[in-house]
Amino acid sequence: KKILFVASEAVPFIKTGGLADVVGSLPKYFDKEQYDIRVMIPKYMCIRQEWKDQMKYVTHFYMNLAWRSQYVGILEMEYEGVKFYFIDNEYYFAGPKPYGNIYEDIEKFAFFSKAAISALPSLDFRPDIIHCHDWQTGLVPVYLNDSFQDNPFFRGIKTIMTIHNLKFQGIWDMKTVKDITGLNASYFTPDKLEAYGDANYLKGGIVYADAVTTVSDTYAEEIKMPYYGEHLDGLMRARANSLRGIVNGIDYNEYNPESDKYLVHNYNAVNFRKEKVKNKTALQQELGLDVDPKKMMIGIVSRLTDQKGFDLIAYVMDELCQDEVQFVVLGTGEERYENMFRHFAWKYQGKVSANIFYSEAMSHKVYGSCDAFLMPSQFEPCGLSQLMSLRYGTVPIVRETGGLKDTVEPYNEYESKGTGFSFTNYNAHEMMHTVRYAEHIYYDKKREWNKIIDRGMAVDFSWNNSAKKYEELYNWLAD
Ligand code: ADP
Ligand code: GLC
Repeated sequence: KKILFVASEAVPFIKTGGLADVVGSLPKYFDKEQYDIRVMIPKYMCIRQEWKDQMKYVTHFYMNLAWRSQYVGILEMEYEGVKFYFIDNEYYFAGPKPYGNIYEDIEKFAFFSKAAISALPSLDFRPDIIHCHDWQTGLVPVYLNDSFQDNPFFRGIKTIMTIHNLKFQGIWDMKTVKDITGLNASYFTPDKLEAYGDANYLKGGIVYADAVTTVSDTYAEEIKMPYYGEHLDGLMRARANSLRGIVNGIDYNEYNPESDKYLVHNYNAVNFRKEKVKNKTALQQELGLDVDPKKMMIGIVSRLTDQKGFDLIAYVMDELCQDEVQFVVLGTGEERYENMFRHFAWKYQGKVSANIFYSEAMSHKVYGSCDAFLMPSQFEPCGLSQLMSLRYGTVPIVRETGGLKDTVEPYNEYESKGTGFSFTNYNAHEMMHTVRYAEHIYYDKKREWNKIIDRGMAVDFSWNNSAKKYEELYNWLAD
């Protein structure tokens, strides 16, 4: 079977969040005999030159986007056994980052979605299924259903819409979107692209896709309810029969404490007790924290947004900093959270380290050095950071929502079970008590703590299991 992933980001080329990890790594884990999975992303100018140098020109043509005629270039490159296609257009993809303001992005991704379909006849690859990811590709199923159906080449191609984050939908006013997309007025009704008087790309994708998935079972259930449904819970209920959750994995080769080149000391599930702590003291030194191998170090690697629960941390950070703990934060995002962590780093020198930037290397060091990892998300479709933490023997402390609930088993000291710590309600004191409970186990019951790590490092969140579930879905859709 031939499957084309269409998405706005993929590692190693361009990444702003977990979407890139998924799109870039999942294709490697299918049964190569039976599935030919290729990936298509924009050729952003901000992709590193070293990658651009390796891309090979395939062809180009002009495409109509409503009244505009636009250049579509296609480049390709094989990376770790997977073929990647890059859609080139210097007008749309010139920015310093993949995403700009929403108005730019609305036109950019209408272009990208239509170009992705238009490009197919010039490739030696007719997909059985186009697998779309997030709102940026929501118009793919819509366009495919539209004028492309006049051409027999496109008939019978199935589509999947995977929701990585329902919060972002690609919403703009209908008049402008009609003008940008060139889609007929009949598409802009409440049973199609219209939502609450505006045009909504993701909604279009959900309505027109043959199957809809999201990245964990719990999130698939949650988004049918108003609290998590982002105003589309009614639609999610309506599509409940074609909606399923498939939990994400991570690339176990890329994220492997035994071979990780960013770590000062490599370790594994057997020798972590002795080796891992050396990374902690190295990181303490590097970041100017008090050097003390015994001090419990809690890590955070995250986009600094409301989604991730930073207002809970804001409430109780002063209190938590009275404890025997250190915090290492790595992240960028909303200014108030960036400044909040800078403030705490200034106030609690030696205890709190605020690294307000993006760094692959530093993220691996945090996963590979800390004792615990804090992720109190307000909502979390899946979350990859807690999976990386488990893999590195860093005990996750999470809120029980979405993928966090599905991947972290709460510690139960009476049954000697569990891979992390969790709390239910979105409440700062509940979070604080859970952190303090973790501190107690860490300091007073070290053997128990190490057993939590043993169990965490033993669970398997490589892609193998989830790739099988996608294979089942592909088989069911296109037999
Ligand atoms: P989301 O996609 O919602 O941001 P995920 O947990 O699914 O959350 O994925 C986040 C990914 O981005 C992880 O790979 C994490 O390590 C990475 N990441 C987040 N912030 C940074 C940062 N400042 N530097 C390096 N990596 C980061
Ligand atoms: C989104 C979600 C995150 C998920 C990622 C990859 O960014 O916020 O929970 O892990 O997509 O699916």
